[in-house]
Amino acid sequence: MSNLSVNYMGLQLRSPILAASSGLTSQLDKVEAFDKAGVGAIVVKSLFEEQIVDEAEFLADQSHDYPESADYLHHYIRHNSIAKYLKLIKDIKDTVSVPVIASINCYSMGEWVEFAKEIEDAGADGLELNIFSMPLNVLKGASQIETDYLDVVGSVTKRVSIPVAVKIANNYTNIPGFVNGLKSRGAKGVVMFNRFYMPDIDIKKVRIIAADAYSTEQEHLKELRWMGIVSALVPGIDLSASTGIHNGTIVIKQLLAGAATAQMCTALYQKGAEAISQAIDDINLFMETQGFEKLSDFRGRLNYSNIPNPERFERVQFMKSFGSK
Ligand SMILES: Cc1cc2nc3c(=O)[nH]c(=O)nc-3n(C[C@H](O)[C@H](O)[C@H](O)COP(=O)(O)O)c2cc1C
Repeated sequence: MSNLSVNYMGLQLRSPILAASSGLTSQLDKVEAFDKAGVGAIVVKSLFEEQIVDEAEFLADQSHDYPESADYLHHYIRHNSIAKYLKLIKDIKDTVSVPVIASINCYSMGEWVEFAKEIEDAGADGLELNIFSMPLNVLKGASQIETDYLDVVGSVTKRVSIPVAVKIANNYTNIPGFVNGLKSRGAKGVVMFNRFYMPDIDIKKVRIIAADAYSTEQEHLKELRWMGIVSALVPGIDLSASTGIHNGTIVIKQLLAGAATAQMCTALYQKGAEAISQAIDDINLFMETQGFEKLSDFRGRLNYSNIPNPERFERVQFMKSFGSK
């Protein structure tokens, strides 16, 4: 058996495979199975800023005839949603032997930044911030939006002492630049990338439907390119691969490109905890075959700085390879 342990944002993990934030990581029987299968850490289902704000505002609106009750309801809902989440963190901590990373899904600066402290006090070992708001204001520039995100991260990292990772979207103009900004605001990790709920169109019924919530294996390539580039250009921050991590081969590719960890979501929905144990077997076999004893023997070996032909990561046009086809 090889040594699969890794340091992720200062957390000592026994393996580089994380259970990504999803409905599965809010269920105690599931996280227990992931722990038994050898997962390195659990990222808990997110606490949604939107959910807390909407619920509180909806109920407060219902009580417009009794304005004095609006404040009470607002406070009650917020307190209740957070209390439930804090209990979930404690229950998961009591159930598993590995580090537990809480997750907040947020889109603005707000009171919820204070929840981060409560999450830390509940025993979370780390915090993942899933920050995104759909940009619909045509007058607001990209840098203004990014500055807002960086400010949110800066205020959270100032309030907590547990390590904070930021789970980002894959469509920034300058991904290494943005990751560097996150690092300067105190983030210890970046998760690349989130995969969002997507609308689709059913042409038979002529209506909008939800696209498949699950990724396919092929979806890891964009992540692989940016893993290779960002791990080389922004040293000193730990990167976690997310999207399309379906098996051990893909985890190994991400480690070679420079990832510290890789997060599974779809694979856990489709194959259960077996996806984790199988991937661990695959990584062990790879390391034995290649003569690697520990992850640092090959982590980042194929990143942008470490290969003789870094243009392999830069090339985006098909002109040269497929020009004659
Ligand atoms: C059903 C479902 C629920 C999810 N819930 C969350 C969530 O609460 N917070 C979060 O940050 N990501 C959430 N995600 C995104 C996953 O953590 C992950 O980033 C994404 O699915 C890409 O990974 P995959 O290709 O392994 O599925 C969810 C994904 C799915 C499919």
